[in-house]
Amino acid sequence: MKIDELKRVCVVGAGLMGRQIALNAAHHGFSVKLSDASAEQMSAARTWIEEYVASRIEKGRWTKEEADAAQAHLAYAADLAEAAQDADLAIEAVVEDLEVKRKVFAELDRLCPPRAVLATNSSTFVSSLVADATKRPAQVANLHYFNPALVMEVVEVVQGPHTAPETVELLLEFARRNGKKPILLKKEIEGFIANRLLWALAREATSLLDGGYATFEEIDLAAEKALGYPMGPFRLMDLTGVDLAYMIRTARHKATGREEDKPPRCIEERYRAGHYGRKTGRGFYTY
Ligand SMILES: NC(=O)c1ccc[n+]([C@@H]2O[C@H](COP(=O)([O-])OP(=O)(O)OC[C@H]3O[C@@H](n4cnc5c(N)ncnc54)[C@H](O)[C@@H]3O)[C@@H](O)[C@H]2O)c1
Repeated sequence: MKIDELKRVCVVGAGLMGRQIALNAAHHGFSVKLSDASAEQMSAARTWIEEYVASRIEKGRWTKEEADAAQAHLAYAADLAEAAQDADLAIEAVVEDLEVKRKVFAELDRLCPPRAVLATNSSTFVSSLVADATKRPAQVANLHYFNPALVMEVVEVVQGPHTAPETVELLLEFARRNGKKPILLKKEIEGFIANRLLWALAREATSLLDGGYATFEEIDLAAEKALGYPMGPFRLMDLTGVDLAYMIRTARHKATGREEDKPPRCIEERYRAGHYGRKTGRGFYTY
């Protein structure tokens, strides 16, 4: 399929990411159908999108015509069959559970036209883990947006060993036509690029803190003022959740058995004390 033939997009999962990915594509002129297994999530997504669009107009960021066009390009499908039936591209953004994702890919393979490309927005699963649930692995790849997907400028496109070069080209161009700068990964690797860089920084930062070399405030100061990061690793962890940081590391340690993947002491202590960050009023910092 050539990019000019890609007109209809199906987004599966209307949560935090799916609703933004859908609106972003609709805003860039694609005809989008959004779907979710939960009726409440669909209704919450619709309300969120309507409020977001209204706030864009209010702030003078979108014209009324632009906002109307974006909304006219976006439909809320009653079920997956309706969303998938005429899709040229399906983007999966359901919960981060491999079994659920494999079922969704098998369903998409059954319901989408044979030409359709199937992409996953997963933050951790490479598309090899879902491609074999379909009969079209050459048309399966990762298309990884960052949160907030309407704002963040980059997306990562990951070429799996099963992915055809045309599929990769199509996704790179789709990203560009959605106002994004795509980053291409030529081979699959857990965490892709941006999250691996983030993990490396966080690993070094927590090891310096646990080793007693500096306080977390000083380490954040170095990241922010010496390296120019908008937020130091500890401030960022407080924002995204110390509990999430703990759970990700526990799961990785369980999978690899490597000592270096264990949750570091400074995270474990705060997790056990219920100091999850901003959401509990205290993490590394007190709010
Ligand atoms: N949250 C982030 O910052 C972020 C960033 C990049 C990528 N991602 C990835 O995006 C995906 C979605 O994350 P999210 O944060 O939007 O999650 P979320 O929990 O906000 O949304 C997930 C949605 O999937 C729906 N769902 C569950 N099972 C389904 C099924 N079988 N069919 C259809 N819908 C189903 C749920 O009802 C829910 O609305 C995950 O793979 C995640 O790794 C998340």
